[in-house]
Order: sequence, then C-alpha cells, then structure tokens
Amino acid sequence: MSAVSRPQGARPRVLVTGGAGFIGSHTCVELIQSGYDVIAVDDLSAGSAEALDRVHAITGVLPILERVDVTDRHALATVFERHSVDAIIHFAARKAVGESTEIPLSYFHTNVAGTATLLAVAKEAGVTRIVFSSSCSVYGETRAQLLDETAPIAPTNPYAWSKHAAERMIDDGCRYHSDMRAISLRYFNPIGAHPSGLLGEVPVGTPRNVIPYLAQVAGGQRERLNVFGADYPTADGSAVRDYVHVVDIARGHVDALDHIDDHPGMQVFNLGTGEGTSVLELRAAFIEACGRDIPYTVLPRRPGDVPRLVADAGSVREAWGWKPQLDLAAMCRDSWNFQVANPRGYADAGRP
Ligand code: WQD
Repeated sequence: MSAVSRPQGARPRVLVTGGAGFIGSHTCVELIQSGYDVIAVDDLSAGSAEALDRVHAITGVLPILERVDVTDRHALATVFERHSVDAIIHFAARKAVGESTEIPLSYFHTNVAGTATLLAVAKEAGVTRIVFSSSCSVYGETRAQLLDETAPIAPTNPYAWSKHAAERMIDDGCRYHSDMRAISLRYFNPIGAHPSGLLGEVPVGTPRNVIPYLAQVAGGQRERLNVFGADYPTADGSAVRDYVHVVDIARGHVDALDHIDDHPGMQVFNLGTGEGTSVLELRAAFIEACGRDIPYTVLPRRPGDVPRLVADAGSVREAWGWKPQLDLAAMCRDSWNFQVANPRGYADAGRP
C-alpha cells in the first residue's frame, strides 16, 4: 500500500518533472501500471511529447502534460493551482557530465535554481513528499570498489555539484520543515529501453552518453565509438560504471513512494547492480546484442570523468527489497531493439 494516498477510491496523483524524458517517461509507465495518476511537467527541451504518447500506447493512459520550465516560478505555481497532487518525482535536469564542463552555469541554473523553485512552489501548495533523481556522480573519484551511501561526497564536475547542491536543499527543507519527507535516489548508469521497443533514450543532437552513441554506431548513423580514455587504472584501461536497466530504475521510484514515510527527513539510497562494466566490455556486450561490429577509436579522457563508479546497493535491498531484475544483456538487447524500431528516435512522429 503506497504511503501516498487519496480519499477512498481516488488514484493517488504524482507530478513528474522531466516526465517526457528518458527515465521520467519510463517511470510514468510504472506509476500508471501501479495505480497512480501522472502529471508530466516538462519544457520539452530534451523530452518529447511523443514519449508520452508512447506511454499511452503501453499503458492505455495518456499522462497530462504541462509544458513548463521548472525555473519559471509563476508557471509552476499555476500547475499546482490546476492540479492537486500527492507527491512529486523530480527528474527535470541537464544530465551529461561532459557537457556540464562546457556550460556549467546552465547546469546550475536548471538543476539547482530549478530544484529551489520547485521546492518553494510545492511548499506553498502544501505538497510535502518528493522523490529526487540524484546521481552516483556526487561520489566523485574514489578507491572504493563498491560505494555505499556513506561514501565521501566529492563531485568532480558541475553536473555532480548541481546534484549535490539539490540534495542539500531538499535535506535542509526536510530538516527545518517537519511535515516534509523526501527520498533521494542516487542512481548509477541508467541504460536500456522499455521491452516493448516503444520507449527509450532519445538524445538531442550528438549523444553525450555512451549507450545511445553505441546504438547509433551499430545502426549505421555514426562511424565509430570514441572511447574516452584507455589509461585508467582498470582491467582494460577504460572507465568502469555500474549500468542498470532503466525499467529497474523506474520501478525503484514507485517503491520509493511506498516508503517515503518510513522515516522523517530525507532518506538516501543508491540504485545500482553492484557490477562494474568497462566501456570496452559494454561495447562487447552491445556487439553480442546487435550482431554487428562496432569500430572504435581511443581518445583522451573526458574532463570530469572518474575511473570507477560501482554501487553497493545493499541499503535499498535491505530497506525495501529492491534489486535489479534485468541484466546487462537485457539492457543492450532492449537498447538495440529500440534503436532498430526508432532509428531517428521520435523524430518520425513529427512531434516536438
Ligand atoms: C559512461 C562512460 C565515459 C560516451 C551518466 C549520466 C548521469 C548519471 C550517471 C544519472 C564514461 C565513457 C561516454 C562516449 C565514452 N546518471 N564514454 N564514449 O558520464 O557516467 O553519467 O550516468 O543520474 O546523468 O550522464 O555516463 O554514458 O556519459 O559515460 O567512452 O561517447 O563512457 O567517459 O567513462 P556518465 P556516460
């Protein structure tokens, strides 16, 4: 039974910022299939209205879309006036480590000012439950083989700093407003796509993240993968990450709503598999999934990157029983399946 509830019979209603984006749209599917109503707040700068149509195709329910920038306080307040919501899941953010070193101020504006605006407007509207999309990147460079939630916070790039700052604001909001409850989910590397092939990761322009880039090389849209660094202190020299299926991540958000009242204040949980995969190993797994070769070139390290980020996700397993159900082969299979079904992402749908 969810901790987030409405008067007898009504479906609890969740406002999902960034709901037309990659992780947001997959979470809309899981929320709807778990009995929630969903309102997606998205400025469509990276998300797409087509993603919500795909949510409709999968679930039979079309989420309400409010095309709003979370930094626009007046527009956001109007959304809360129009819709009575029981909880918020806050995804809306810029999310590429490399890009954040090129446009740091835009990252702080969207990710930090946007979160501050959302918290203030939600408080005024009496909405006191928030699940926050945080990131393993707050841990920075570490010698630890597995990272639990007590690992030192040491961001190495503006994206990671922006996520840490947002967590801090939410934590203090809960600390000084006793009616506020939050869960911050520090996910590791979400990849994959919905098994239906209808929903997936659709980057704007040149993909910044490795999996959509790999998929486009396999699909013939790009010539070769650029591997950013093969001189890291790892088994094959390329950087190691903990890749986790986006559907597992989405389900983790639904679980978070069930547990948001377990403790006062802000709870923090890592969402990962505990398995590290290097870039070159990920390339090999993708070749296995798509049956095609993927040429690559080794380039210098990308600014802001760290050698290894792998989760110790024991806390969330102990607290809620959440653990990943889908393995690396499924992540690559589903990514490739989405790429084949949607070679130009959602562009063919002619929607913004
Ligand atoms: C992974 C590895 C790159 C592109 C992501 C999200 C972030 C957060 C954590 C959720 C790195 C290398 C990349 C390429 C490459 N997720 N790489 N060639 O930076 O770990 O962060 O997961 O909050 O939002 O961005 O992911 O896919 O960019 O990089 O070699 O073309 O792949 O150097 O080692 P990252 P990524």
